[in-house]
Amino acid sequence: MELKIIVAVDGHASCGKSTLARQLAKRLGYTYIDSGAMYRAVTLYLLDNHIDFRDKPQLLDALKHITITFRYNPDTGIPETMLNGKAVEEEIRSMRISNEVSPVSADKDVRAFLVSQQQEMGKKKGITMDGRDIGTVVFPHAELKIFLTSDEHVRAQRRFEELQAKGMSVTMEEVVHNLESRDYEDSHRVASPLYKAGDAVELDNTHLTEDQQLEFAYNLVKEKISELEKSVKI
Ligand code: DC
Repeated sequence: MELKIIVAVDGHASCGKSTLARQLAKRLGYTYIDSGAMYRAVTLYLLDNHIDFRDKPQLLDALKHITITFRYNPDTGIPETMLNGKAVEEEIRSMRISNEVSPVSADKDVRAFLVSQQQEMGKKKGITMDGRDIGTVVFPHAELKIFLTSDEHVRAQRRFEELQAKGMSVTMEEVVHNLESRDYEDSHRVASPLYKAGDAVELDNTHLTEDQQLEFAYNLVKEKISELEKSVKI
């Protein structure tokens, strides 16, 4: 049986990380985990329960009541996010959550809570996970790390079209503003800021189709696996 690895995909907001990590997992027969969805689900819980994450005792108590799981939807091929057993996939993608998730995700207790669950999910390998700190903090020893980049206008346009297709009412200005402020906050926070791991492969997908970026990443995985298998045999 072929050796299984961990693939970490990091990068700025809306540069196609989830699409790549999801398609790659499908092609490899791996599990795909969207770590951003977990930060979004925590944010949704806090907003719905009127909990200010800056109030530490309240936050720590709230985290004890949060269970996040993923349920595979065979129709869409997408693992859908469940918060305490309730499907929240659509709700966590709304601008209400996008506008609040960065400060929540900068909290060190929120991060510790989710990072330990993410590490547990990777124990058996055979996983692709996308986020901001996957190759730096969650899986610093991941066999393959990809740092995805994309032109900011292309990112905003893709995000705008995605939200419109879902019937969400949003303007291009709102999308640009949200991406800019999240990029800034995610890269400048104290706890696990977004940066490219020294051993990550940078992939700029501005001029690539989804199929092309998938092919590129798939070949990286195959090369890595054959390299590791050779070193095991020696
Ligand atoms: O990938 P996304 O846009 O759905 O992520 C939502 C937010 O969660 C993002 O603004 C930053 C945060 N996040 C994080 O801090 N660490 C991760 N591993 C994934 C997401």
